[in-house]
Amino acid sequence: MIAGGEESRGKWSSQFGFILAATGSAVGLGNIWKFPFVTHQNGGGAFVLVYLICILLVGFPIMVAEIFMGKQTGRDPVGAFRRLKKDSKLWPLAGYIGVVAGFSILSYYSVVSGWVLHYVLIAFKGTLSGYTGAESAEYFQNFVQQTSLQLGYHFSMMLVFTGIVTLGIKNGIERANKIFMPLLFIMLLILMGYSMAYFSGREAFEFLFNWENYNNLSSHGILEALGHSFFTLSLGMGAMITYGSYMTDQEHVMPGSIWIVIADVVISIMACFLIYSILFSFDEEVGGGPGLLFITLPGLIEKITGSFLCVAGFFILVLFAAISSAISLLEVVVAFCIDELKVKRTTAVSLSAVTIFLLGIPSALSFNGLSDWLIWGRNFFDWIDYVASNWLLPFGGLSTALFVGWVVDREVTEQEVSRRWRFLFRPWRFVLHYITPILVILVILKTTGIWKI
Ligand code: PHE
Repeated sequence: MIAGGEESRGKWSSQFGFILAATGSAVGLGNIWKFPFVTHQNGGGAFVLVYLICILLVGFPIMVAEIFMGKQTGRDPVGAFRRLKKDSKLWPLAGYIGVVAGFSILSYYSVVSGWVLHYVLIAFKGTLSGYTGAESAEYFQNFVQQTSLQLGYHFSMMLVFTGIVTLGIKNGIERANKIFMPLLFIMLLILMGYSMAYFSGREAFEFLFNWENYNNLSSHGILEALGHSFFTLSLGMGAMITYGSYMTDQEHVMPGSIWIVIADVVISIMACFLIYSILFSFDEEVGGGPGLLFITLPGLIEKITGSFLCVAGFFILVLFAAISSAISLLEVVVAFCIDELKVKRTTAVSLSAVTIFLLGIPSALSFNGLSDWLIWGRNFFDWIDYVASNWLLPFGGLSTALFVGWVVDREVTEQEVSRRWRFLFRPWRFVLHYITPILVILVILKTTGIWKI
């Protein structure tokens, strides 16, 4: 095997393997933790509709563009920009933004995944049994304040990600997703079916699909929907370029992208059904917001099902979602090291994992040792999340849309993208050309504060 050569890159075993892995990347904490609480805060219905439109006009076109770039070049994000536009010094910078974003997001994603692992373990022990809302909140506060536990979990999760990614594309990433994704889907289906049938399924449905409540939706909400469409589909940071680069010639860009987007949206909506059916069956005002997953839900699930096994099942599901996303973040950095720095996979993985672990330490300490270390009111954890989600991803996404829409030769794109489902090529390219960039620029103007709404 030649270090850094084509042989050390690897390929998916089939179109299905690719779709499963890319769906694994897309489906993560964004779907099960963030989407339900953001939708709840924005009043449901109208927000969901706007979100679906954003997925169609921003998420889907960029998904196709990224997968196209990867498949066409067979390279990491930096190499992909470089190969499609020879002798440009500027465009590969967009690839670097992606690698830096992958790096930064994984450093805190690993910390949060560690929280999920802890909740799986305590659910089995029945620790939270009979806790009131206030007691659950106190437990969570206490937990994040324990420095050694936080570091230990962060370390353990990085170890899991490293183990999977070291095994390579087919034997590591694809195989892990082939186990995690079907299990995740089945568990979600069972828990959702149960909670909808026995609790407030109807209210949950009305909350999500009553599209006439647009009075509840602020302009801030609209931009939040737009921003989230990047995060949830793993766009703007080269994850889909990287996964696309392991496709073989028998696999196709357009159908692949469509299945991934549909699966991601369906799982987000299912998570909402599950969570709201439980939430709405309690009269008292229950806490929404970011604490929904770790504070509000465990107590409620146990209260209504009477079984700690359901709580454990729920957190295992979240853990699978988190791991399958995290490995794609790690793979972006690893692919960069293999392709650009020409090192072997094992070296690339160790190098990336150690550096990401170190960068994650201040995030793990943001709620304990370093909780007083605030820069303009934000702790380290919040900064990394803020910079990555609000700056790096939109800039990465905009660069990809402009690059594939305006810079890459139309014939090159057409040849690859229209190999299957040809009729979608023209509408896709039209949206990517004109509509997607404008919408992303709006998000950026809002984030930078230039546009104050
Ligand atoms: N899409 C993942 C989620 O919804 C997060 C993610 C972002 C993963 C970017 C990879 C790249 O949680």
